[in-house]
Amino acid sequence: MRFGHFDDSHKEYVITTPKTPYPWINYLGNENFFGLVSHQGGGYCFYRDARLRRLTRYRYNNVPTDSGGRYFYINEGGDTWTPTFMPMKKELDFFECRHGLGYTKVTGRRNGLRAEVLYFVPLGETAEVHQVTLKNEGTAAKKLKLFSFIEFCLWNAHDDATNFQRNFSTGEVEVEGSTIYHKTEYRERRDHFAFYHVNATVAGFDTDRESFIGLYNGFGDPDVPCAGESKNTVASGWSPVASHGLDVTLAPGEEKTFVFLLGYVENPRAEKWEKPGVINKQRAKALIAKFSSTEQVNAALGKLREHWNGLLSNYAIESGDEKLNRMVNIWNPYQCMVTFNMSRSASYFESGIGRGMGFRDSNQDLLGFVHLVPERARERIIDIASTQFADGSAYHQYQPLTKRGNNDVGSGFNDDPLWLILGVSAYIKETGDYGILDEQVPFDNDPNNQASLLEHLKRSFDHVSHNLGPHGLPLIGRADWNDCLNLNCFSETPDEPFQTTGNRTGRTAESVFIAGMFVHIGPEYAKIAEYKGQADEAKRALSEVAKMEKTVLEHGWDGEWFLRAYDFFGKKIGSKDCPEGDSQILIEPQGYCVMAGIGVATGEAKKALDSVKERLDTRYGIVLNNPPYRDYHVELGEISSYPPGYKENAGIFCHNNPWVMIAETVIGRGERAFEYYKKIAPAYIEDISEIHRTEPYVYSQMIAGKDAVHHGEAKNSWLTGTAAWNFVAISQHLLGVRPEWDGLCVKPCIGSEVPEFTITRKCRGATYRIHVKSLGGTGKVKLKVDGKAIEGDLVPYAKAGSTVNIECEAS
Ligand code: GLC
Ligand code: GLC
Repeated sequence: MRFGHFDDSHKEYVITTPKTPYPWINYLGNENFFGLVSHQGGGYCFYRDARLRRLTRYRYNNVPTDSGGRYFYINEGGDTWTPTFMPMKKELDFFECRHGLGYTKVTGRRNGLRAEVLYFVPLGETAEVHQVTLKNEGTAAKKLKLFSFIEFCLWNAHDDATNFQRNFSTGEVEVEGSTIYHKTEYRERRDHFAFYHVNATVAGFDTDRESFIGLYNGFGDPDVPCAGESKNTVASGWSPVASHGLDVTLAPGEEKTFVFLLGYVENPRAEKWEKPGVINKQRAKALIAKFSSTEQVNAALGKLREHWNGLLSNYAIESGDEKLNRMVNIWNPYQCMVTFNMSRSASYFESGIGRGMGFRDSNQDLLGFVHLVPERARERIIDIASTQFADGSAYHQYQPLTKRGNNDVGSGFNDDPLWLILGVSAYIKETGDYGILDEQVPFDNDPNNQASLLEHLKRSFDHVSHNLGPHGLPLIGRADWNDCLNLNCFSETPDEPFQTTGNRTGRTAESVFIAGMFVHIGPEYAKIAEYKGQADEAKRALSEVAKMEKTVLEHGWDGEWFLRAYDFFGKKIGSKDCPEGDSQILIEPQGYCVMAGIGVATGEAKKALDSVKERLDTRYGIVLNNPPYRDYHVELGEISSYPPGYKENAGIFCHNNPWVMIAETVIGRGERAFEYYKKIAPAYIEDISEIHRTEPYVYSQMIAGKDAVHHGEAKNSWLTGTAAWNFVAISQHLLGVRPEWDGLCVKPCIGSEVPEFTITRKCRGATYRIHVKSLGGTGKVKLKVDGKAIEGDLVPYAKAGSTVNIECEAS
C-alpha cells in the first residue's frame, strides 16, 4: 500500500494523507543550520550541533509520537485547525506534503481555506523560512486569525531535557514589533540568540508556553488559538515560546502570503548589548531584511533548487527503469548528503544528544558524498584525522561543534583506522588532489603533535598489523564494524554500555572482518605510498596484505563460508561447528572478504556468496546472521542481547547488503547483485509501505529479519551507512562507473534487466557520456572512447572542460 507517490520532475515525494505508518520526515539545511521536519510539521532545528546548539524543543518518544514542531493554527469563526493535520487533527478536505531537496511544503484545506506552509533553510543562512500562503477558495469573504508557534529549547538539548530545577528559572525573551528574541543564558556565557519574525504587523504575540497552551492542555487544544486572541505574554523562566497572532481577511479567491523567519545569530562578545540588558539586534535585522518579501523567499528557493540540480548533475542515469533513475539521480545522493551532514546524530531515531560524528561512520559517509562536494569532503577528512591518536587508533566519535574527540566513548574500535584510508583514497580518486596527503594534521587535536596526512594513513595501516592475535588475524578490540560484537566486554551488569565496557583485556579476540578490510583497503594505502614515491613502503604494505590474505584462507575459512571471528577463548564465531541456538554464518566477512578479492581465484568467494544466498537471503533483504542468537552470551556482548530478527541479531542490517552486491559483481554475477539491490532500495518497495513503515524515499538502517515478529518492518531511517554504500554499489559497481587512480573505470555488471542506459558522469572537470548496452551481467566490457576501441575498462582522465563519449558493450 502507498501513502503518496514520487514526483520525479520536481524531485519530490508527495504524501497524500497525514496518516502515514510513521512520521515521514525531511531535512532542511546545508552546512551550518539544520532542521528536521515531518510531513505533519513536527521536528526541530539546531545550529551545527544537535546537542549543544538546539534552537527548538522536540519531545522524542512521546505520545502522540510526533510532538513538537513549527505549527500554524488557524481560527476561522471559532473553528480552529492546523493545515499540517497535527497537532489539532481536524479533518481536512485536502492534504498534501511535498518533501523536496532541502525543503518541505505542506498544504491543508478546510472550509474552503487553503493553507500552504513552505519550510526551508536558504543557502548559506542560519535561519529557517516558514512561508505561509492562505487562499480563500470559497465564495464568501473570510476573516480569520493565524497563530504561529514554536517552543524554544534552552540550547543544550541534554540539559534542557533533564535540568529542570535550574532551567525553569533561566528563560528570557525580548519582543520588539513582529520579532520575538530568545536570549536565555545570553546574559552570561552565550554570545548567541535566536529570533522568530514575521513580515507583517501582528495583532498580538505570546512567549510564555503555559499562557499560550494552558497548563492542562496540549499542542492539540492550545488556549490562545482556540480562544482566537493572543495574550501578549512575556516569558520569565519556565518555557519560552514564540507565537505571533495575525488578523487576516481574504476576499473570495484572494491569497495572502506571510514570511516567518526563525533565525540564529552570534555576536562578538564586545558587541553583545545595545544597552544594558538589551540584545544588539543588528545582525538579526540584517538577516530579516534578506527575507522580508515573498520575492526574496522565492528567489532563495530557486537558488536552492539550482544548487541541487548542479550537485546531482555529477552522476546521472537515464534508463528505462524509473525506480532506478529516481534512486540514482535523486534520493540516494540526497540521503548521502544528509548522512554526511548529520552522521548519526539527529533523526527521528537518533535523539541528537546521544552521538556526535562517528569516525567510522563519517569516513564511510564520504564514499557516497565525495562526488557531490569534494571540497567539503576534504575538510571533513582533516577534521576526522585530527581526532586520531598517534598510535593510529582513533576516537570513535567527536562533537561537530568543538571537533574534539568524545572521551565518554573513547577509542578501541579496531576497524576505525582503516576507514580513514578508504575515505582518503575515495577523495583522491575523485579529485586527483594528492596534495591533501601533505597537509599537516594533529593527533588528538594537539597542535604540538602533528604529522602529514600520509603519515596518519601509515599509522592507520600499522595499527592493524601491530595488533594481531594468536591466528595472525587483527584483534577486534571493543568491536569492529559490528558495534554489537563485543568480545572483551563480558558484561553481567545491567546499564554497562556494551561498546565501552571492557571487563577483560586479553589480546585474543580476533576479527576476520577487519582482516577482510585490511586486504581490501591495504592496497589503497600501498597505491598512495607509491604515488608519493615510496616504492619500498608500498612493497612492504602489499606484502603485509598478501600475508593477511593467506591467513584469512588458512584461519578464517570455515569450509562453505568465511568465519566471523575468534572469541576471547579462541572459539570460532560464525562456524558450522557452532552449537544450535548460536549463529553459524554472519554476513560481514562474506561480503567484505570477496570485495577484497579473497578466494576469488580459488573458489571460496563463490562458495561464500552461495551460502549467503542459501542461508541469509529473505524476500526483504539479506539478514546479518543465521540462525539468530537465542540467548544472551556474555562472551559475545550486545549482538546476543537483541531478540531474534532485530538489529545486529539477524535483522536485515541494510548497510552490509551492498557489500554482498559488490561482491557478486566481483565474481561476475550482476543479475544477482541487482536482485539484492531491488530488495532494499526504497523506491522498489514503495508498494509495501504499510509493512516497511519508514519513508519510501530513503534507506533505513534495519529491516526486521525473518526471525522477527514483524518481518519486513524497518526502523532507523535516514542516518545510516546504508546510504553511502548503496550508492557506491549501484553507481560504481552495478552500473560500473567509478573513478580510479589513473582513469575512469567503466565496467557495468548489472545484467539484461537494465538492457540499455546512459550515464553522465562529471569528474575532475571533464564530462563523460557513457552509453551502455547491457547484454549480460558478467562484468566483461568492450569500450569505444570517442569512437576508438580501447583495451580494458579504464578510460584515461580527460582535460577539464572536455566531453568524452563512451560506448560500452557489457556482456
Ligand atoms: C550503527 C553504527 C555503525 C555500526 C553499525 C553496526 O549503524 O552507526 O557505526 O557499524 O551500527 O553495528
Ligand atoms: C547499538 C546498536 C548499534 C549502534 C550502537 C551505537 O549497539 O545496536 O546499531 O551502532 O548502538 O552505539
